[in-house]
Amino acid sequence: MLVVYHSKTGKNGEMAEAVARGTRHPDISIELRFLTAFQAGMSDLLWADGLIFGTPENFGYMSGALKDFFDRTFYEVEGQVDGKPYCLFVGAGNDGTGAVTAVHRICNGYNFKEVQSPIIVVGDLQDAHRTACEELGMAMAAGLEAGIF
Ligand SMILES: Cc1cc2nc3c(=O)[nH]c(=O)nc-3n(C[C@H](O)[C@H](O)[C@H](O)COP(=O)(O)O)c2cc1C
Repeated sequence: MLVVYHSKTGKNGEMAEAVARGTRHPDISIELRFLTAFQAGMSDLLWADGLIFGTPENFGYMSGALKDFFDRTFYEVEGQVDGKPYCLFVGAGNDGTGAVTAVHRICNGYNFKEVQSPIIVVGDLQDAHRTACEELGMAMAAGLEAGIF
């Protein structure tokens, strides 16, 4: 599984860490690549059987870093990633829906298949949000291991 995220001030980084913790559940054994949007590239997308994206909302859109990741990889993997399951988390200031809409649109272009509803966290991160992120990671990893996507 591949986690690709961007965080400037730490919130989405914490959410990404929580997602990763969820994938390390003792009953699940999958390989995880945990990368920032600037680190990740086409080979990671080709390698992964499942994808989790995380981003702040900036100016009503996904972060420039995640958009750069999509810009750098789209043509390179087109037709080779159809149907890969993905899900999304957005740690935003006061909205988050613009980022979700933008990621959905782009992921439709890749032909990824969204398998869980996005997590949007507005305002400060609470323990319940961290738990929700852990559960997202765990459910994705368990689903991949079981081959249900
Ligand atoms: C340049 C900039 C633009 C932003 N625009 C929005 C926005 O349109 N909607 C929103 O909900 N939050 C907006 N925010 C707030 C961030 O989404 C929020 O602080 C988020 O938690 C940052 O995540 P991070 O700590 O992982 O960097 C903006 C922040 C910055 C720096």
